[in-house]
Amino acid sequence: MTISVEVNFSNKEDLVSLENLQRKNLENIDRLKEPYEDESEDNSLWYNWPENEGKKLASELEGISSRLPYYYDLVVVVGIGGSYTGTKTIHDLFGASLEIRNQEPQKKPILFCGYHLSESYLQKQLKILDQYKPVICVVSKSGKTLEPNAIYSVLSTHLKKRFSHEEILERTFFVSSKKESPFLKELSPNKSRFFSIPDGIVGRFSVLSAASLVPLALAGHNIKALMRGADDFFKKLEAKEEHTLKSLIYAPARFLAWKEGKSVELLAYEEPQLEGLGLWWQQLFAESEGKQEKAIFPIGSLFSRDLHSIGQYIQEGSKSIFETFLLTSGVRSEGNFESESRIRIPTDEFARELLGKASGHYLDDLNEKIMKASRKAHSLREVPNCTLQIGVLNESTLGFLIAFFQTSCVLGSFLLEVNPYNQPGVEAYKKELLHLLS
Ligand code: PA5
Repeated sequence: MTISVEVNFSNKEDLVSLENLQRKNLENIDRLKEPYEDESEDNSLWYNWPENEGKKLASELEGISSRLPYYYDLVVVVGIGGSYTGTKTIHDLFGASLEIRNQEPQKKPILFCGYHLSESYLQKQLKILDQYKPVICVVSKSGKTLEPNAIYSVLSTHLKKRFSHEEILERTFFVSSKKESPFLKELSPNKSRFFSIPDGIVGRFSVLSAASLVPLALAGHNIKALMRGADDFFKKLEAKEEHTLKSLIYAPARFLAWKEGKSVELLAYEEPQLEGLGLWWQQLFAESEGKQEKAIFPIGSLFSRDLHSIGQYIQEGSKSIFETFLLTSGVRSEGNFESESRIRIPTDEFARELLGKASGHYLDDLNEKIMKASRKAHSLREVPNCTLQIGVLNESTLGFLIAFFQTSCVLGSFLLEVNPYNQPGVEAYKKELLHLLS
């Protein structure tokens, strides 16, 4: 597996700065394995996690569904932030949809609750829940987060219409670092439905830990392939493999863009199923880097959709944007041997009249051309950009990409001289809320 990274800054001086920054960046690689300087806790456990713990955990969790003494056809994930975006990333790409029944018998759909407190939306979700026999996975590293705890209490009360208290507990899994919690008291004495997130892995770095692996295993995902891809990235990094080292130019490129006054990084992707990854990527970089009034603001964007809205701003608005194009050669779950069916624009007279030269193209090929065209148009306007190319996106190349982004994020934080593992700013609204509640 590889990831190709191509950086495009228009002026020559930038290229020299980038080379210097990359030298410094590569010197920082050994720091990835260490706790951040002012941290008492070692938060670097995410590094080389597949080899140290992840692969073992994935093997243990594989086939979990067949060991349960009851039938279920839905996984409800109750979590927020890093306790849900990782699962959503994989589910969006390879998961069974809630709308289409019986599409992939080996996979169960996932319903995400706990990341919002909207009554009207939850009403709709409860109606969906009523049509299924669910398992519920409460994921909260701290075990204290208001949103998931509030939603679980609503869900478990709602389920009492159909299940006994014991059955609800049987169907509840708790994934946390917390050693003591009302959840654990409830689940006891059967602690087999408790899974631990290590203290040394913060939420946004927890995607390869039990935080995502438990719900994904329950939903029947290929978590071993995910882990294999991430492991491959770390192995290549450890071996200082040339192509992998080159790809790390992404961190200095983002840093340079910010230094030069770009305040927004737009991650442009052409695949609607990458919305989850966009959210996860945004959280990873925003929460890790955005401190001490530093760092570029990350935001995901779906092309073509957004070319018809913010495309105008990118082309002619304030010159504040650094663009990162995430290119894939399609999405295909590993082990899916069904012959690939492709969709092509027809070539009949009507289509030719309606679409001119676009007729006859496969949609993915057209999409690729649209990405190329927008990169060219935006570069003419001196929007610096970067292209990440990952090939076919399956569970293992996604694991590789996740490890690449995590690594780039921590390396970027080193260049910014901020601690990637804390989030003091998130506490501010919680304090205000406590005032309002009292
Ligand atoms: O990255 C982080 O640490 C946060 O975004 C957390 O994931 C988020 O606040 C949820 O916290 P918890 O898992 O403790 O409920």
